[in-house]
Amino acid sequence: MAVRIDLADVNDLQQVLEDHPRYWGERDLRALHLTALVKEFGSTCLVARADDGIRGYLIGFVTPDRTGYVHLIATRDDTRGTGLGRTLYDAFTATARRQGAVRLKAITSVTNEGSIAFHRGLGFDHRVVEDYDGTGRPRVVFTRDLN
Ligand SMILES: CC(C)(COP(=O)(O)OP(=O)(O)OC[C@H]1O[C@@H](n2cnc3c(N)ncnc32)[C@H](O)[C@@H]1OP(=O)(O)O)[C@@H](O)C(=O)NCCC(=O)NCCS
Repeated sequence: MAVRIDLADVNDLQQVLEDHPRYWGERDLRALHLTALVKEFGSTCLVARADDGIRGYLIGFVTPDRTGYVHLIATRDDTRGTGLGRTLYDAFTATARRQGAVRLKAITSVTNEGSIAFHRGLGFDHRVVEDYDGTGRPRVVFTRDLN
């Protein structure tokens, strides 16, 4: 079944929120799915569509210091390990470069081993930053230079 990468809109955001557990399992990340991001950074918010619905999505933006920041990326539970996460990152990277990005960055929780393995597989360096999200709330910070 063909998958195409499109720009995400607010309806896509609603749809993935309705199906939230299929992308995030037991974790509740609904509060991070901000309409403002899709509205204001529409060219770097992507959705992977197929006949059976949204297979995955990426919400990101390019910061003023030229960092392509990936706020959220998720693929549906029945599509994992098929290369879709990589495809979404590649599409985001191409757009971020066009907007002047010279590096990529993403954040995850220290317990998200799947995300750590995924980002390492995509060539990111990673480090744990203690107190990243406030006192006693460490996060893994991924970075990759774009040459
Ligand atoms: C993390 C996530 C987006 C990866 O998506 P995916 O479509 O399964 O990833 P891909 O199939 O494109 O994998 C790309 C590479 O990462 C590796 N990888 C992906 N998930 C992995 C895992 N759980 N363990 C080990 N390696 C993994 C793949 O082996 C692949 O390497 P290769 O290209 O050298 O074979 C997906 O597992 C997901 O949605 N997880 C839940 C949401 C989440 O935690 N998002 C990240 C928050 S920052």
